[in-house]
Amino acid sequence: MKKLLALTLALCMVLSLCACGGTKTETKTETPATEAPAAEPAAETADVKTYNVGVAIYQFNDNFMTLYRNEIEAYFKTLETETEKYNVQIVDSKNDMAEQSNQIDTFITQGMDVIILNLVQTSSADAIIDKIVAAGIPCVLINREPLGDNGDESYAGILDNATVCYVGADARQSGTFQGQIVADLENHGDINGDGKISYVMIEGDPENVDAQYRTEFSIKALTDAGYEVECLADQVGNWDTAQGQQIAANALTQYGDQIEVIFCNNDGMALGAYAAIEAAGRTVGKDIYLLGVDALDECVEMVNNGTMTGTVLNDHIGQSHTAVDVAVKALHGETIDNYYWVDYVMVK
Ligand code: GAL
Repeated sequence: MKKLLALTLALCMVLSLCACGGTKTETKTETPATEAPAAEPAAETADVKTYNVGVAIYQFNDNFMTLYRNEIEAYFKTLETETEKYNVQIVDSKNDMAEQSNQIDTFITQGMDVIILNLVQTSSADAIIDKIVAAGIPCVLINREPLGDNGDESYAGILDNATVCYVGADARQSGTFQGQIVADLENHGDINGDGKISYVMIEGDPENVDAQYRTEFSIKALTDAGYEVECLADQVGNWDTAQGQQIAANALTQYGDQIEVIFCNNDGMALGAYAAIEAAGRTVGKDIYLLGVDALDECVEMVNNGTMTGTVLNDHIGQSHTAVDVAVKALHGETIDNYYWVDYVMVK
């Protein structure tokens, strides 16, 4: 009897050991011995570094800059790792330079590690950049390029500082593409065959040199190609759809069928101009042409279905990713260039 008890006990012990052993083996298989020790200390001991990023946008109420700022936020997220996080604060400067200046002061007080800045007024670039540089914060300017004294030169406030740069697209290219789209049409934009292209120009906010360059280079592309042009009206619509509509409506009332092409410095205003063209009973592609810049989704669709003649891709993905990549470089103490350029692409 004793023997039987001893045997049963021994059997139980063997079984329970086996069970334990089984569990252990399983655990080990799930987490290979080589990885476990490396992963655990990293998670336990490594510091998680959170960088504070301040982003000031000239105004949230802008189609293109809305795409741009959303992509800045989304792209920072994709760059986060176990050990590096980005605390991104994006503020609306409401098209008010005084407001933006206060926002920059707040960013400095909050100890931002980098600032991404879409200036309200490029003419105020000096004062703002001086503050940021004095606070020892790297600054990535976007979308509105401050120019040098000659209007055409690189801006000293960028060239003089190793921690300041501009990320943008050369708007001369976008203007040239708009002109080329018209030049490439079968009638080269001269619908009534009177030997000249009669156009209306709707300009963006002059605080962005894009407005000046697109206005100038769209027409230059036509005259360079040997076409005669006639400007019927040229007005500032501040990148805004409602203003674009108003300007186009007034021009259509005043000049009627004389208008052959409406150039808009951006798609936002082209959308407004389209509404005015429709209301005036005109047909894009048949008795009038309409051009924009930005390649907003709805405008690419319009180009595809013929209700817009053409637009130019203002690559907000390329620009925002470049701006963020450069900001991250600066955060890591790496050397940055003064200028980064992203190409436009013709859409017709
Ligand atoms: C331009 C863009 C416009 C507007 C403007 C704001 O590059 O084409 O739609 O967003 O920037 O500065």
